[in-house]
Amino acid sequence: MLPTQIVTPPSSQSSREHQIATLINNAENGQWQIEKDIDWSIHPSPPNFLTQRFIGRALGALMAGEEATAAACKMLLADSPDADLSACLEYQAADEERHAKVYRAYLERVGMPALIPDGFREATKQLVNWKGPPTGLVFAVHVVLESEALTLQHELSDDIRCPLFQAINRRVTQDEVRHVAYGQLVSANAQLTEQERLETVLAIKGIWDACIKALVHDNAVLWRAVKGFSERRWALQAKSLERLGLIDPVPA
Ligand SMILES: [Fe+2]
Ligand SMILES: [Fe+2]
Repeated sequence: MLPTQIVTPPSSQSSREHQIATLINNAENGQWQIEKDIDWSIHPSPPNFLTQRFIGRALGALMAGEEATAAACKMLLADSPDADLSACLEYQAADEERHAKVYRAYLERVGMPALIPDGFREATKQLVNWKGPPTGLVFAVHVVLESEALTLQHELSDDIRCPLFQAINRRVTQDEVRHVAYGQLVSANAQLTEQERLETVLAIKGIWDACIKALVHDNAVLWRAVKGFSERRWALQAKSLERLGLIDPVPA
């Protein structure tokens, strides 16, 4: 089957090149160091005893997600994309590794163990073992999981209300916004066959469900409690995949 251009990019090729050049420039200027660029003298206000376990698991999931995303970027690099896209991915892999380290450093600073939920590494391994087209992995990582991680980071920042965590999060979020922008640019030019498109959607939904189940620890009661929330979040993601042409629009 012939590849189909799944969406017509709204901007011209030169505009796309300009946007990628801007992303590279921002990534270059936006590199930061954990020791130097976070004010570790800020007194932390860690979560209270009751919420520590939940927060620790959420942060553990974010850390594992960062590591898996760094690995996914390296896989995309192995596919030898154009030089400008390679530059974006190289900066991103460095960003994600730094994010995992800074979350670990925060947990150490506040004396909380890193609780990576059982099954979460297994769930994210599906990214590293991705068998579909490279652009499908961009949809999975950059469009769906990165935007979901951004939401989780914002919610955690509100929940924890710790000035040190908020200072860290401001740095991390600046990087993540670039990564999401990269995903939008690349996925808007994706060329997938119908079969690749359908398989990509199925694979992303499989990873999504596995991550949510790992987060609730395969606990049936918790799963029932978050199922509705997860479905509402997935509906938003599906809308965004629909806008990018990966999912067929649902007839009104
Ligand atoms: Fe990240
Ligand atoms: Fe990211």
